Amino acid sequence: MTNNVKSERDSFSNRFAVVAAVAGSAIGLGNIWRFPYLAGENGGGAFLLVYLFCVVVIGIPVMTSEFIIGRSAQLNPYGAFKKLAPRKPWYLIGIMGVAAAFMILAFYTTVAGWTLEYFYQSLTGNLLGRTDIELTNMFDSFLKSSFRPILWFIVFMGLTAFIIISGVKEGIEKYTKIMMPFLFLILILMCIRSLTLPGGKAGLQFLFHPDMNKITPKVILEALGQSFFSLSIGMGTLITYGSYIRKNENLVLSAGLVSLADTSVAVLAGIAIFPAVFALGGSPASGTGLTFIVLPGIFDKMPLGSVFAFMFFLLLSIAALTSTISVLEVIVAYLVEELKMSRKKATIAASLSVSILGLLTVLSYGALSNLQVGGRNIFGILEFLTSNIMLPIGGLFIVIFIGWFYSKDLTKREFTNEGSLKGTLLPTYIFIVKFVAPVAIAIVFLYSLGIFKLS
Ligand code: PFF
Repeated sequence: MTNNVKSERDSFSNRFAVVAAVAGSAIGLGNIWRFPYLAGENGGGAFLLVYLFCVVVIGIPVMTSEFIIGRSAQLNPYGAFKKLAPRKPWYLIGIMGVAAAFMILAFYTTVAGWTLEYFYQSLTGNLLGRTDIELTNMFDSFLKSSFRPILWFIVFMGLTAFIIISGVKEGIEKYTKIMMPFLFLILILMCIRSLTLPGGKAGLQFLFHPDMNKITPKVILEALGQSFFSLSIGMGTLITYGSYIRKNENLVLSAGLVSLADTSVAVLAGIAIFPAVFALGGSPASGTGLTFIVLPGIFDKMPLGSVFAFMFFLLLSIAALTSTISVLEVIVAYLVEELKMSRKKATIAASLSVSILGLLTVLSYGALSNLQVGGRNIFGILEFLTSNIMLPIGGLFIVIFIGWFYSKDLTKREFTNEGSLKGTLLPTYIFIVKFVAPVAIAIVFLYSLGIFKLS
């Protein structure tokens, strides 16, 4: 160990712990709530196709780059860039990441609060025996009621802070290792139910048959943004987690496994939701309420529906928790390492300040619903700015940093674990981070802003 920071630094114990924690960050509301609703609004199969392209060509390389930066610097995103590129403005990416973490946490915890409400409602049996209209009204009036969404927001923020105060091994690792496999299992059961509903086939057709005419600039930007959001990349979350990965873990393999798990959960969520939407006569483009309105409708038609509803919302809350802790960890690692706060103080300060923005976000469906810019409420603004703008810009600079500025030798050492791995994929990786990923991200941006046209 060369310095104090390294020797005191907490780390994940083994490969499973790393993959579970990173997958815990990646898999969450983004897969089960956001992916289906965006796919529903953006052409189904067309969206899925562009999404898969973004995950493979851009997502995995950006994730690997974040791991490389984090593990070699052993610091939070801001500190990492300061250390790896002293006296250069790269640390601004780290600052943008911390800012994005604040914004994401505010709207993400809002939705996580909705899952707690639905968990509670499923416990009391309140979701069963309701028509689709009743479920829609129930969701709408819950959002407008303000008090309950605020209460659940605070409870969820408190849970997140509690785990973060406990640290990496005793907090993050312990919880993610047990919870994630469960979520997989229950999703598969829900897919089976949804697929066996009469009339469900149209849902599969919608998700797996891309209509190329539906690929518009908006669809491409949404898919790119969603791939960043879902993989937790572009804001330094995985720089932070990368700094807790031991030197003998294979970084590309971990990135590949996590991306595979993450994408599988999103596709499974689509398979659970769309056949049911079509079978039950709903609209795939129902927006943010899709999960909360459609899924209770499926549970109602399942044997032991109340048990499934209860398990599903419990696991969804847990999946959200393993993601919120990773976002809060970005801010806390920054405050601890850069402003020398204690872990406890940093967590409290971060959670309280995020909560202020969070309360405005919660109220953007109630008292503050008239506060809109370009048709988006506060929630929508935070969601759009972070996923579609800040994360892709962060990702762009992260790959440019590794591809063009960071020492090739140091990249190789991290990639091959100091030469102990063959590194067969290294040339492909370098080619992608130097050329393919930056060009792809830049084109999507210019294209979606209308500056660049594909004929
Ligand atoms: N990837 C998480 C999800 O899909 O639910 C959300 C998320 C976590 C986004 C961490 C960004 C992040 F840094």
